[in-house]
Amino acid sequence: MGRAAGAGGREAARLSDILGGQPSDASLLAEIYDLEHDAIDEDLAFYREIARLHPGPAIDLGCGSGRLFGPLLDGGATRVVGIDGSPSLLGRGEVRIEADARLREARADGRIELAVGDVRRVRHHDRFALAIMAGVLAHLEGPEDALRALASSRRLLSRDGVLVVDTLGPGAMPPHDLPLSLDWEHADGGRRVVRRSQLERRETPEGLRVAYATLTDVVRTDGTIARLPASFRLWYPSPAALVALAAEAELTVESVFGSHDLDPIDEESERCVVVARPTRADPGKE
Ligand SMILES: C[S@@+](CC[C@H](N)C(=O)[O-])C[C@H]1O[C@@H](n2cnc3c(N)ncnc32)[C@H](O)[C@@H]1O
Repeated sequence: MGRAAGAGGREAARLSDILGGQPSDASLLAEIYDLEHDAIDEDLAFYREIARLHPGPAIDLGCGSGRLFGPLLDGGATRVVGIDGSPSLLGRGEVRIEADARLREARADGRIELAVGDVRRVRHHDRFALAIMAGVLAHLEGPEDALRALASSRRLLSRDGVLVVDTLGPGAMPPHDLPLSLDWEHADGGRRVVRRSQLERRETPEGLRVAYATLTDVVRTDGTIARLPASFRLWYPSPAALVALAAEAELTVESVFGSHDLDPIDEESERCVVVARPTRADPGKE
């Protein structure tokens, strides 16, 4: 794993490791995270295409286990830097790279770099044609942290670089609280994985706040069960609030899409995908 990128002290490291603070085995949680997130593939063509449109190095902020690395390289990214606050998820990223010949080759050629870092204060010596924050905003505390993350992403961009911020849209917001319910069951090798979750929502002036708790049972072949409780505080700004934060971070929003198929955003949209450029070049960075 690469060196720490912009490590902001013990407190910041703790806050940005979404799995490390849980009362469960972080590496097993990370494995289950992969099982769940690798099933998401409807956005991969979008990321391939955005990398094609913005050739050059790309930085994946809050990259998790590197789900987007392949599409970014396939799209023509000359290099991919993956930053995440969770060492366990970056560890899964290493597993992903090892398991995939084209990622392994890219890594061997120095075209993939992974580093522990906090998106609210990440720094890097390179400038990027493309910066991505996919599914990350919801994990930040709220507008102040989002502003920090947007401003620090802007500083990573080259003069013509673009930032893509990808989060849930208005149509995907939970309409009411959900009691503990069964989400999914999955056979994984000899194991069976059962996921239950519950959520409580709260409308606030700064957006929807969701307290989301999951209970994952990993039923081993010998019948023993590893029970993994985890809880997350999620935050979803409205598209208008996100655009206003981007402007405050000195980003000019070019487009806001309501899907990865580039549909215009409306109240029914499942996604909110913001594409923005630096409003002006940072002094001394050209
Ligand atoms: C839902 S996952 C999305 C992962 C990946 N972007 C994807 O689309 O598959 C959110 C990721 O953001 C990371 N994260 C949350 N807050 C962070 C922070 N402050 N700094 C760095 N990473 C953070 C989490 O560790 C997690 O990997």
